[in-house]
Amino acid sequence: MLLQHLYINGQWREAKSYTTLLSPYSEETIAQVAIASEQDVEEAVEGAVEAFKVMRKMPAHERSSILAKVAELLEERKEEASEQIAKEAAKPLKAARAEVDRTIETYRFAAEEAKRIQGETIPMDAAAGGEGRIAYTVKEPVGVVGAITPFNFPMNLVAHKLGPAIAAGNTIVLKPAGQTPLSAYLIAELFEKAGLPKGALQVVSGNGKMIGDKLVADPRVKHITFTGSPKVGTGIREKAGLKGVTLELGSNAAVIIDQEAGDLEAIAERVTAGAYSYQGQVCISVQRVYVHEKVAEPFTKLLAEKVSNLRTGDPLDPNTDVSALITEEDTQRVQDWIQEAKAEGAKVVIGGELEGRVLQPTILTNVPRSAKVSCQEVFGPVLVVHSVSSITEATQLVNDSMYGLQAGIYTQNINDAMEAADRLEVGGVMINDIPTFRVDHMPYGGVKQSGFGREGIKYALDAMTELKLVVINRN
Ligand code: SIN
Repeated sequence: MLLQHLYINGQWREAKSYTTLLSPYSEETIAQVAIASEQDVEEAVEGAVEAFKVMRKMPAHERSSILAKVAELLEERKEEASEQIAKEAAKPLKAARAEVDRTIETYRFAAEEAKRIQGETIPMDAAAGGEGRIAYTVKEPVGVVGAITPFNFPMNLVAHKLGPAIAAGNTIVLKPAGQTPLSAYLIAELFEKAGLPKGALQVVSGNGKMIGDKLVADPRVKHITFTGSPKVGTGIREKAGLKGVTLELGSNAAVIIDQEAGDLEAIAERVTAGAYSYQGQVCISVQRVYVHEKVAEPFTKLLAEKVSNLRTGDPLDPNTDVSALITEEDTQRVQDWIQEAKAEGAKVVIGGELEGRVLQPTILTNVPRSAKVSCQEVFGPVLVVHSVSSITEATQLVNDSMYGLQAGIYTQNINDAMEAADRLEVGGVMINDIPTFRVDHMPYGGVKQSGFGREGIKYALDAMTELKLVVINRN
């Protein structure tokens, strides 16, 4: 049985207590995982402050080499890492493998960006009184970064926080998600092997509220980067004071399908992947489809065909597409939301039932806009198909949401696409693609309750560095 200790100041430290980690799919015991005490968190922050003295002086090429080495080491342990994710997150192995590939790429992007952190020169004589001065800016690391990561991408969303933090020369205290700490500890092991100075990465698992509250309240922690629920994210923003924050929160992402959208079968295939990959537990999962009434019927039929081909079951089976949701509570909640929609007139096109621990991939039509499955974040394998009479109507309905992360539109009409891109209130618009599209160097983040700030190494670096101006007076 794996006994997972804390990682503090470069040591694998025993904790006072441990919790049993169970597989969300089989409920088998996976590991005993350390629960950090308040004292452990205190020492982790203190150690990160000390390590910053080393990190802030480390040349960019060394930071870059460490990040590149982590990518190389992960490449060597790809299959083990994928299985780790599949076990603790119940993420089907093919999706887990894709996540590990993305994680490797994220660290490679971070290694590259570490070499491109640069300021600019300022033409001081543009202002009367500025003559005779030379000025330039530099981007300095902020110091200790507090990172709080979610269960749904336990390796790649950790990389989106550690990558830019280390690229900039910061140190980090990482609190991984309660259900998926093992992937984060595996990455800590790789950073240790790659030669990251002791204390530059601290990993403390355990009581999320206690650890999160301490990191947010501690003035030595200069920036908080968080992915999770809008409720917790809003609480962090309120309590953070002058500390920097990056918040990646929820979404009920939508795709619009025009009457002349292109190959409906190919689109149905893509929407199926976007809606059910990792059981829909992805912030940019397709949750709402707004399809033109002229093609709504054939499109829904094609969708149902694709969904009926999905294989459900054990996440460790390489053929599985959809497995168990992360907790029984979430499974119950999603089922309740489906029942509520049905009671309000929704029609189940396919799915809706529980088979063992796996909620079957579900398509609903005739769903009232106010039903939770449409207007809140489901984070489960449920797709709601609404029929619309125009792109303008669809755009308004997409915007009629408290969220605004990414949206997609399929149309052959470039003017409609550009008009929708202009009107959609989201952080990213995918033309002729699903909102679920993401590669790891693009800016990623939302508006409204979807969050604040952007990921994508280059963009995250802006938040994790401080601009300093230097002016030389030559008069
Ligand atoms: C997320 O769920 O926020 C991340 C989605 C992704 O990286 O693909």
